Amino acid sequence: MQDLKGLILSGGTGTRLRPITHTSAKQLVPVANKPVLFYGIEAMATAGIDDVGIIIAPETGEEIKAAAGDGSRFGIRLTYILQDAPLGLAHAVLTAEPFLGDSPFVMYLGDNLLQGGIEDLVAAFRASEPEALILLTPVPDPEQYGVAELSDGAVVRLIEKPSDPKTDLALVGVYMFTPVVHHAARAIRPSGRGELEITDAIQHLVDQGHRVEPHIVRGWWKDTGRLEDMLAANRLVLDTIVGSVDGELIDSRVDGRVVVEPGARLERSAVRGPAIIGAGARLTDCYIGPYTAIGEGCSIENAEVEHSILLAGSVVCDLDGRMESSLLGRNVRIGRDHRQPRAYRFMVGDNSEIGIL
Ligand code: DAU
Repeated sequence: MQDLKGLILSGGTGTRLRPITHTSAKQLVPVANKPVLFYGIEAMATAGIDDVGIIIAPETGEEIKAAAGDGSRFGIRLTYILQDAPLGLAHAVLTAEPFLGDSPFVMYLGDNLLQGGIEDLVAAFRASEPEALILLTPVPDPEQYGVAELSDGAVVRLIEKPSDPKTDLALVGVYMFTPVVHHAARAIRPSGRGELEITDAIQHLVDQGHRVEPHIVRGWWKDTGRLEDMLAANRLVLDTIVGSVDGELIDSRVDGRVVVEPGARLERSAVRGPAIIGAGARLTDCYIGPYTAIGEGCSIENAEVEHSILLAGSVVCDLDGRMESSLLGRNVRIGRDHRQPRAYRFMVGDNSEIGIL
């Protein structure tokens, strides 16, 4: 088989993670202080795929380029491909056709996280040379995904977000294709949500008698499109970290697996892992509980935070109750206000959610 190229889809709009995605690409929201997108890029690099295209959208493309660069820091070459509008995953494939040419390729959705990487799958694809290889995993809410029906181990039917799913086998956002997928993407029509669905393109391959090989994913997989998924992905990745303290601890303690990045300073504070404290963060008189990722340059004072993700530069101080299961964007400030009259004072973006005690 010819050398495989890579295609990472990092366009789209990210409506389910608003307000974070009003100002930032959903693929750059960090999991354990690393953008989701980088996990996909690293998976490609580890599998020896060194020529990777990244689909970007006009609104968030520049930010993605600035974050991932030319790929040299990952040891690969990245080519950015602009998709004018989010017209679907199969539309993204067609947009990338000039880059992909007649190469077989691995397609990775930029908001997906797959434990264990893709090396074994690439090896299986090379060994059995199907027209497409898809990954499936049982989920409790199949109506949120593309859903597969198998018969004697073969794919018979794929439906995108069915209202009445016949199985619980969801399509995972990592696919392997031969160039025949371009014909399939051209043959299909937009779905009810107005997108050219990759699920329909793969169904077209099945209908044309092409070989579509299903693989059941063994490790965990997460689509980080919603807050609960983001927190779950953060938990899963933090569960695998190895503790290391490179910052400064003053009258403070860390228990369990905790990463304290360089330049972080903890004073009269306790951190219970697994947790990560970003470079240059300041923690004073506070408790950080398990499954928390504190971004670079955050400042937390006189507060308790657990099971949360704080993006760079956020400030939390003087909270009476513990903050948990929260996602704070960049430079958010949450704190006590001593001005009169005593009142809650908010300045929050569209689609924000606030729960008070
Ligand atoms: O996560 C797995 C699911 O991903 C599959 O089970 C579904 O079959 C598949 O359609 C897809 O569903 P989503 O509705 O979750 O896809 P989403 O719109 O979130 O887009 C996935 C990624 O692709 C995301 O990083 C944005 C990017 N994208 C999306 C569209 C629609 C593009 O780059 N261009 C696009 O036109």
